[in-house]
Amino acid sequence: MIEKINRLKEEVMAVIATTPEAVEELRIKYLSKKGAVSALMADFRNVPAEQKREIGQRINELKSFVTDKINTLKEQLSAGSDAEASSIDLTRTATLFPVGSRHPLSIVKNDIINIFADMGFTIAEGPEIEDDWHVFSSLNFPPDHPARDMQDTFFIARNPVDVLLRTHTSSVQTRVMEKTQPPIRIVCPGRVYRNEAISARAHCFFHQVEGLYIDKNVSFADLKQVLLTFAQKMFGPETKIRLRPSFFPFTEPSAEMDISCNICGGKGCAFCKGTGWVEILGCGMVDPNVLKSCGIDPEVYSGYAFGMGIERITNLKYRVKDLRMFSENDVRFLAEFESAR
Ligand code: PHE
Repeated sequence: MIEKINRLKEEVMAVIATTPEAVEELRIKYLSKKGAVSALMADFRNVPAEQKREIGQRINELKSFVTDKINTLKEQLSAGSDAEASSIDLTRTATLFPVGSRHPLSIVKNDIINIFADMGFTIAEGPEIEDDWHVFSSLNFPPDHPARDMQDTFFIARNPVDVLLRTHTSSVQTRVMEKTQPPIRIVCPGRVYRNEAISARAHCFFHQVEGLYIDKNVSFADLKQVLLTFAQKMFGPETKIRLRPSFFPFTEPSAEMDISCNICGGKGCAFCKGTGWVEILGCGMVDPNVLKSCGIDPEVYSGYAFGMGIERITNLKYRVKDLRMFSENDVRFLAEFESAR
């Protein structure tokens, strides 16, 4: 009997099973009612009384040994299939986390700044909350100019000094001229505010890059050449420009600049309303009154200034039809632009 028990134990020790079905077969073979261990128990009846104690113990040991063995086999198999299910493949390339894209206005702002930086301009920035002096008075706006009306400008306080949201970044030019003697060569990027009803074509805030160059003997021809260079670097070497007489309080003479429509190539389309030209900026020679109010001698120095809306340039480059898309933060729109990675 003892011999039988030992043989069975050795046999069980050696078994292997690679599928759950095979483990189940082993369980039936050893542990079921008709299994080998039960058969031993049936034989137990015939064991002489004096051996019953020892044999009984051995059979019990064998039973728990076989049960453990079968449980271990089961666990090993299910651990294996877990690993398969989670399919951890350590050789695979790591998943790239999606990163944001740069905002189209930032892309275009950087493009504009870089073109002027190549021509020797540096960046100047100033506050969005301004006073009347820097936005209007220093820039030769007459006291009754419409921009000084609440209809056009957001005023924060009206007394004792007018505090307002800047309507253009020309205020930064004033701040630089007050502190610096020429030569001055700067571009002023930033957000500006105007009291307009929000629609596809107008917003209560937008972004500008304005430029200023002051030195001895600066002429309108210098301005024209710098703007032509800008237009061709921004919109392609075939781009033409034209300057139309205009008026700004702070420049004299003043002009508005059109570029040949980059959508139809100047032939005439819906975007340029059939004219072949689209307006992109205002410019002119700095009015001597402005130089004087900022402490620069207009008898010695002259200069030019220009200013453009970044939204307008972006519309021309990327054909964004509705201005509101720039500030709605719809990721489907933003994701169309170059990744920031
Ligand atoms: N400041 C003007 C505007 O906001 C633009 C401009 C700047 C025009 C410099 C002429 C010279 O519309």
